[in-house]
Amino acid sequence: MRICAAADIHYPRTHATRCAGLARAMCESGAEVLVLAGDISAGEEKHYRKLLRLFGDFEGPKLFVPGNHDLWSLSRHPNTPHRYHDTLRHIVERQGFRYLPGDPLAHGRVGFVGTVGWYDYAFRQPQPPQPGLRVTPLRAVRTRQGPEFVGDPARREVPWEELTPADYAGHALAWRAEDAIKRVVWNDGLHVRWGDTDAETVERLRDELAADIAAIEERVDYWVAVLHFLPFAKLLGEPAQDIEAAYVRAFLGAPAFGRLLAEHPKCRLVLCGHRHEAQVLSVGDMVLANCSVGDGKAGPLLLTVE
Ligand SMILES: [Fe+2]
Repeated sequence: MRICAAADIHYPRTHATRCAGLARAMCESGAEVLVLAGDISAGEEKHYRKLLRLFGDFEGPKLFVPGNHDLWSLSRHPNTPHRYHDTLRHIVERQGFRYLPGDPLAHGRVGFVGTVGWYDYAFRQPQPPQPGLRVTPLRAVRTRQGPEFVGDPARREVPWEELTPADYAGHALAWRAEDAIKRVVWNDGLHVRWGDTDAETVERLRDELAADIAAIEERVDYWVAVLHFLPFAKLLGEPAQDIEAAYVRAFLGAPAFGRLLAEHPKCRLVLCGHRHEAQVLSVGDMVLANCSVGDGKAGPLLLTVE
């Protein structure tokens, strides 16, 4: 079976001409199944309609899993569970795509399951990106006037290696660079509201994925998992020396999903995106493929599964 997959198209940040070229290449790839693994746009429904229509000529199953940008809400009071379970499902189904979370597919003897995945900061980088670096964790808050950043006076300029999961839960960080104060913000903190902590969200989404696996496992010889976020540390790359890059590693994924997939011998292929570095690796009998086309670094991935 041939599968053509891409993640991180990011329309309209990615020019419409490149999006059309990517879609045409995927439609003409000769693949039997087409997969989009998240972050195709952000917020506005008209962009989803325009992007997904580019895949209208593909005749086989077209599978969709959302990414974090797809979950972003333009509202000041985001309802992310509703956007994840209802709004996005209706948008993509109207364009002929199957929304995999909660709706696994058995295509002949091959199954497909999917989840956005999420992060619980377990992939955070413990070693400082620069020796002796001190940082101030902040909480990003959305207000009528725009984003505001609130710090805990007891957590000012702490050594990097003393950052805790509670510090990462604020989704922002500041540090001194010569005479300036620099800041990095993980924007999900402003545009996503699951109603739970990120760690609780990981647990819930992992349980939902386990239920989807149970629903198809007996009917197929093997199955393919599609996530947006990274489920294995092996996909993280080398520790970063850039402060922003080191900070965002905490938001790249969660090993809880990888542990679930590794428990299942029928899981043979794992597709993901989010980190804009396309790569194909293996863990045991599983093939892991980051199919990101983000930042124009790579094209869609065409995989043949024996
Ligand atoms: Fe992403």
